Amino acid sequence: MAQISVRTGAPYARLLSTGAYRGSRVVDNAEMCTMIDSSDEWIQQRTGISQRHWATEDETVRSMAVAACRQAIERAGLSAADIDTIILATVSNSQQMPSLASYVAQDLGCTGPAMFDISAACAGFCYGLGLADSLIRTGAAGHVLVVGVEKLTDTLDAHDRGTAFLFSDGAGAVVVGPSEEPAIGPVVWGSDPSQAEVLTIQSWRNLPEGQDHPHITMEGTKVFRWATTFIADRARETLEAAGLAPEDLDVFIPHQANNRITDSMLRHLKLPKDVVVSRDIIQMGNSSAASVPLALDAILQSGEATSGQTALLIGFGAGLAFAGQVVTLP
Ligand code: UT7
Repeated sequence: MAQISVRTGAPYARLLSTGAYRGSRVVDNAEMCTMIDSSDEWIQQRTGISQRHWATEDETVRSMAVAACRQAIERAGLSAADIDTIILATVSNSQQMPSLASYVAQDLGCTGPAMFDISAACAGFCYGLGLADSLIRTGAAGHVLVVGVEKLTDTLDAHDRGTAFLFSDGAGAVVVGPSEEPAIGPVVWGSDPSQAEVLTIQSWRNLPEGQDHPHITMEGTKVFRWATTFIADRARETLEAAGLAPEDLDVFIPHQANNRITDSMLRHLKLPKDVVVSRDIIQMGNSSAASVPLALDAILQSGEATSGQTALLIGFGAGLAFAGQVVTLP
């Protein structure tokens, strides 16, 4: 029998940089309440959101992803030619083929990278980061661009008081490269497929009469319950998988779905008071696959967290799917 050679890669992988792009139209709660029967007070109390970023017509999933990726590549001190793999997470790209990653690679001027899209909704970025870590350590990749991008307003019913005020548009990217030290902990991921129907974007086929595009549908209370019970336990497992205790953590960056979910996780995890916690949702809303990388970028750019600190990331949402890992901040 022929002996198949296998390769091994760098001993470890690490985040090298971040990049971000937020939809340029800022919609505050007062404007939101001209579209739905709600109030600034209700939205802030129930979610923490005070405004959201929505994309204009000219800002597309393609243009926003490219902008975030360009910034991440530049901050890593690399050029597009150094990127050999692109993993793009999205649920709001309306074109099925080719992958959105192909267009991003074209616009960036990459030279023949491996490239693909993944659909894991709000967990998509952390799924992609888990893959990037493995690809680098197995030698399949050298420098991986992981980007989460959404234009969720393309999928919104702006008059649905159960969803319209929550979702937003933007892109967040990281470059992942080789490392001599461990800097990305084991990915802890999984799902509850029995709840696949509680959070969906409708199919283009058989749209209800009078509707011209698919809408997000969500049974918010069911997602909320899952996130504050099951996911809080997975966050603790993610820390343990990295061999760390709550006291070892500097920064907590959960998916920006609802500040009440974040508060509940904090109580559950018993994190020390001085852990910096992302509250990007207040000014951004929920941008699904872009949420974790945008929050990561914001916390670094604001100076609330610094390079070399230890952060717990966890994404969760439609599927219902989740993924998390502990990382050293770039
Ligand atoms: O990114 C993917 C993951 N997504 C999530 O994690 C979302 C998780 N879910 C949530 O964040 C929450 O379920 C929501 C923020 C979406 C809703 O909050 P809730 O506390 O679960 O509200 P509810 O649906 O249980 O409704 C409570 C009350 C109801 O009134 P009554 O029956 O108590 O009189 C609703 O009619 O709030 C009312 N309500 C609203 N009032 C003002 C529902 N939506 C609104 C609204 N404005 N937009």
